[in-house]
Amino acid sequence: AEGAGLVVAVDGPGGSGKSTVARELARRLGLRYLDTGAMYRAVTQLALERRIDIEDPQAVAELAERAVLSVGTDPDEPTIAVDGTRVDAEIRTRAVTNAVSAIAAVPSVRTRLVAQQRQVIDASRAGGGIVVEGRDIGSVVAPDAQVKVFLTASTEVRALRRSRQLGEKGVDDVARTLAELDRRDALDSTRAADPLAIPDGAIVLDSTAMGVPEVVEEVLRHCGQPTNVA
Ligand code: DC
Repeated sequence: AEGAGLVVAVDGPGGSGKSTVARELARRLGLRYLDTGAMYRAVTQLALERRIDIEDPQAVAELAERAVLSVGTDPDEPTIAVDGTRVDAEIRTRAVTNAVSAIAAVPSVRTRLVAQQRQVIDASRAGGGIVVEGRDIGSVVAPDAQVKVFLTASTEVRALRRSRQLGEKGVDDVARTLAELDRRDALDSTRAADPLAIPDGAIVLDSTAMGVPEVVEEVLRHCGQPTNVA
């Protein structure tokens, strides 16, 4: 029911360290973990696989309408499946990463995924709560979250992290990743539907110089004394 369970919202741009921080927070607090970006990625992966024109909002909306997403919320082993097939690795490819902003900009896709995200959050309340990461969690998905975190980092540091995640080594790769990140940030921040924004009441942390453990400790301090008691 409303009010029961702790909901921690972690928002921020790609490469800010959100996933690492959110998973570690969930482990430390004994909560569930939901990666909402994985859901937008899963719809994108399906669109690419079916060769749907990702710039055609109507076609994308119809696809999202029919797709059945299932998410596993164990922070030690988060999972995602579309129509019963696990796509955990497939959703992390460069092709999906570069196409996902177009899919995430379609309002009816967002309405559908946000409704499912709220169901997952509500289901977690009885078990203690959940840490949810994304772009619009504190603002749209769970405005009643007791703790809201907005994590940032310099574009250079974010590109370097992304590049390393992709297993790249060269300077050219980092430059390319940086350009792609810039483009995605611009799309995610300027779209009409629920753009990336710092929610009211959020703790803003810059992970450029801070390590993950420091960020986690800082957030845990706030979880002891929720700052946004609704
Ligand atoms: O966090 P990520 O890189 O896995 O997110 C993938 C994309 O999904 C990102 O470009 C923006 C979109 N997204 C969104 O619009 N809303 C969310 N709550 C989470 C992700």
